[in-house]
Amino acid sequence: MIEQFKKDVDAGLSAHPKHLSSKYFYDDIGSQIFQEIMAMPEYYLTDSEFEILSLQAKQIAQKLNFKSPFNIIELGAGDGYKTIRLLKNFIELGLEFTYIPVDISKKAIDLLLEKGAKEIPNLKVKPFVGDYFKLLSSIPNELPSLVLFLGSNIGNFKQEAAQSFLKSIQSHLKPIDKLLIGFDLQKNPITIKSAYDDPHGITRAFNMNLLHRINNELGADFRLDKFDFYCHYNPVNGEVRSYLVSLKKQDVYIKSLDKTYSFDYNELIWTELSKKYSFTEIEDLSKASNFKLVANFLDCKHYFADSLWIV
Ligand code: AVI
Repeated sequence: MIEQFKKDVDAGLSAHPKHLSSKYFYDDIGSQIFQEIMAMPEYYLTDSEFEILSLQAKQIAQKLNFKSPFNIIELGAGDGYKTIRLLKNFIELGLEFTYIPVDISKKAIDLLLEKGAKEIPNLKVKPFVGDYFKLLSSIPNELPSLVLFLGSNIGNFKQEAAQSFLKSIQSHLKPIDKLLIGFDLQKNPITIKSAYDDPHGITRAFNMNLLHRINNELGADFRLDKFDFYCHYNPVNGEVRSYLVSLKKQDVYIKSLDKTYSFDYNELIWTELSKKYSFTEIEDLSKASNFKLVANFLDCKHYFADSLWIV
């Protein structure tokens, strides 16, 4: 894993323009900061999806229309705050299922199990720590599965990567299986901008932590006070793009790569894409990845959609 991190950091900082992948945000500190982001009032995504999963579980269950017990496979389960709500509602509706949370972080799964056991003592859980596709290939065929990919995680993929990721999920599913996938919707640009360019500096810390992580894990000498954070939302294409900005012309040495990287005054490192979707784009993405859209479940403000797709 560290080898891949080294390779990606080297490739990203050698490229023009420079970039680093947002998948590296999530070390223990980064995951903690992300929890703080989700708790900010400006970060409407959490509450919007929570509302959908709290109030529309019955409608979701009706559309699932599974006649037998089924699996709920959650890809990138995280802390499960919103999912536990959905599972609770499903149990109250008398549905029978086994919950299979999948995450690469054992710590995330352990926390989730602890929370799940407290909130839903009779929940059937089969956690899996590791790669999504390994798990999907190992699921026995008998039962139908509902795959969850919530929280606008798909928004962090570029268009082509989103398509090929969803296509490979599709290729692992049976005709009866379904996918419930979260999309942050295009809305008033000011609402979106303040969710990312937040006044508390939490999203800034989330991005700066990437430099901290490279310092710690790869022995780099990034001076955090010589970089800043910048992000903007482009309502024309629905993209929030986040960057780190070099505040001076400077060199940074990374020991484990034994290499020096030069930064110009005001040079950017692109760190994250957070794509906001239109309904047409959601439908187009479902088609391009060989799914068919069955229903979109929205919160009352129409900020967020959990979209149900069939194979
Ligand atoms: C995890 N992901 C969906 C978040 C997002 O909204 O793109 C990560 C994030 N980045 C900045 N704030 C939150």
